[in-house]
Amino acid sequence: MSRVLPHFAVRAARNPNARAEAAYGPDLQAILSEAGYQAARDEISAWPGYAPTPLIGLPGLASAAGIGQLWYKDEGGRFGLGSFKALGGAYAVGRLLLREVESRSGRRTTTTELRAGKHEDIAQKVTVCTATDGNHGRSVAWGAQLFGCNCIIYIPGTVSEGRKAAMERFGAEVRRVDGNYDDSVRQIAEESERNGWFLVSDTSHPGYTEIPCDVMHGYTVMAGETIQQFPSDATPTHVFIQGGVGGLAAAVCARFWQSYGEHRPRLVVVEPDKAACFYESARAGSPVVVTGDLDTVMGGLAAGEVSPVAWDLLWAGADSFLTVPDETAAALMRLLAKGVDRDPPIVAGESAVAGLAGLVGALDDPTLAEDLGLGPGSRALVFGSEGATDPELYQEIVGRPAEEIKAA
Ligand SMILES: Cc1ncc(COP(=O)(O)O)c(C=O)c1O
Repeated sequence: MSRVLPHFAVRAARNPNARAEAAYGPDLQAILSEAGYQAARDEISAWPGYAPTPLIGLPGLASAAGIGQLWYKDEGGRFGLGSFKALGGAYAVGRLLLREVESRSGRRTTTTELRAGKHEDIAQKVTVCTATDGNHGRSVAWGAQLFGCNCIIYIPGTVSEGRKAAMERFGAEVRRVDGNYDDSVRQIAEESERNGWFLVSDTSHPGYTEIPCDVMHGYTVMAGETIQQFPSDATPTHVFIQGGVGGLAAAVCARFWQSYGEHRPRLVVVEPDKAACFYESARAGSPVVVTGDLDTVMGGLAAGEVSPVAWDLLWAGADSFLTVPDETAAALMRLLAKGVDRDPPIVAGESAVAGLAGLVGALDDPTLAEDLGLGPGSRALVFGSEGATDPELYQEIVGRPAEEIKAA
């Protein structure tokens, strides 16, 4: 492989349970359905400021990596929030408020009416809450502001001040708690119960799946856009997608499976090696918890526990699980900012590049590349799941401000 690209070792676990030829069955429909995707698409595309994010071809990087095509879905501009997460938490807040208003008033309503303040007497009595590494909380806070309810957010100590401030700008009350991300998830789950707040989590637990599935249905809109944007003769052969609790990867897996059936691309889930809960679970054959402070620079991926509904989907539909070391993030952020050959410069945040890192690492390992069927004919798709969601950190890592790169 070309010298333009960084070299590093990936770990890989093939999914022994993958059902390549299977249809997208009722067990999976019960998690993420075609109807759920259509409802999310109709709703989200009606929000002010909606526009599909760009799907960018990177022929320079593809040729340096030794594959036929490489496509990058750039979520940096999503609703001005900087990440794909804008689609999920806010969508779930809107759905939750619809249910609350309808059950308290006995009348049907719409999110357009909620946005116009028609039921503000009820909405103002509702408090939504969540734990977050940053981007999900930003979406929930924005959704609460959009639909007119209150919002409380818990964050672990590792979340930067810049990310905290971004949530506060949408009117949320943000509290730092001791421990790692998974500890903040547990704490908010207990306190929401005690205080009558509504938990809008992006991760499920037994008995709590409706809202995380709403969140994931929001994400399927991104996957649906991507499928429509692809030239019809160039559908992807491989998707490399990063995993935190797995909601993003599961949504992408579901949408591609529903759209392409057995001709869907191979799906590879990529995690930082410091927070590799899917990789470890795949090796064990069922969900296992990864402990420690999960202190990866890829903050959005710092999860030690899989979301069970995402696990069920990916255990059926993902082909492989990879892990990448932390230093790959900075190397690939800089590479994308510069652009290879005549590729356009791209602003990618720390968690945006893990999928690409998995692809680059796999191509650097001939046995793994062969196992994944990667070669000169491959058309790979990666999701740049965030832009510079923490501009100061971005500048520190890349050496230039995101604004300068965008203007180039
Ligand atoms: C930018 C970014 N990418 C990817 C992810 C991973 O998403 P999930 O936790 O649904 O797997 C996150 C999660 O916060 C994120 O913020």
